[in-house]
Amino acid sequence: SRLKLIVTGGAGYVGSVCTARLLEAGHEVVVVDDLSTGHADAVPDGARFVEGDAADATASLLGEGFDGVLHFAAKSLVGESMQDPAKYWHGNVITSIRLLDAMRAHGTPRLVFSSTAATYGEPERSPIPETAPTMPTNTYGASKLAIDHAITSYARAHGLAAVSLRYFNVAGAYGRFGERHTTETHLIPLVLQVATGDRPHISIFGEDYPTDDGTAVRDYIHVADLADAHLLALTHARAGEHRIYNLGNGTGFSVRQVIEACRTVTGHPIPAEVAPRRAGDPAILVAASDRAREELGWKPERADLEGIVRDAWRFTQERKALGG
Ligand code: UFG
Repeated sequence: SRLKLIVTGGAGYVGSVCTARLLEAGHEVVVVDDLSTGHADAVPDGARFVEGDAADATASLLGEGFDGVLHFAAKSLVGESMQDPAKYWHGNVITSIRLLDAMRAHGTPRLVFSSTAATYGEPERSPIPETAPTMPTNTYGASKLAIDHAITSYARAHGLAAVSLRYFNVAGAYGRFGERHTTETHLIPLVLQVATGDRPHISIFGEDYPTDDGTAVRDYIHVADLADAHLLALTHARAGEHRIYNLGNGTGFSVRQVIEACRTVTGHPIPAEVAPRRAGDPAILVAASDRAREELGWKPERADLEGIVRDAWRFTQERKALGG
């Protein structure tokens, strides 16, 4: 059935792709975004757009009567979270609690929240199930974990139907929606900037990890597969429950393997130079997503790494043709 939804952060990478998929599925979407990191022209056609704070703007809309909120709006740079923690405790935690209060006041029944693998920290074993200990190694992960705890208690006490989705490494693009970060820190878009000639080489952050080729291993998930999990989460959310799901493909690729996939897809030699480790980077982060598969019926359709890189490459070239 058609749901009336608010998407905070719908002008950002994951939020815009999710909004596009929600509209395709026939839902009604209002995007709320303060454009601090998002782009107004990334809001999909067919969504109503309200520029504003994720808590304040949403609070003033909720009286119209909504079936749910998908809360993507957040600060998400690990390095920045260590330099400027207030930005994360206020921007992520305080804003989210104010959003929860507004939803409670208006009786908004459903919430889907963007959590992260960074809530687990340095894992004891791999792949990581949802039952793994949560010991974040950075303020970004700690802020998302704090929100997860708040959601759990609000759901139990006030009957909210809530789902947190813990993303592993999101990559790829969907239609005209993809990664457009002013401060780009993610591996695949940075490697592709070498292929377009915008960057001389890619730095490999550490070659002395306890992995097959010595570089760090991550679980790359296609942004459209991730979006599909949000649609399933909306329909599976149950009043009074907060469910948490890891989202990844369950396969790890090393930094060197990612660079090699980018060479294959782009045909560019992509020079790489080994650099020191980046502080706070775990060696291996791979998801056990059995719970999402079993309970949500989620199945990633675009798990192939070269396919993910191909979509990111098409998007990168299209953006470059548009002039950035
Ligand atoms: N890397 C490089 N060179 C670069 C950029 C990255 O070698 O120029 C390496 C990183 O050290 C890491 C891997 O590539 O080993 C992936 O790095 P990303 O920055 O693309 O992604 P992260 O795994 O660090 O972070 C992602 C999300 C975070 C989230 C984390 C949790 O971006 O928001 O996953 O798993 F917290």
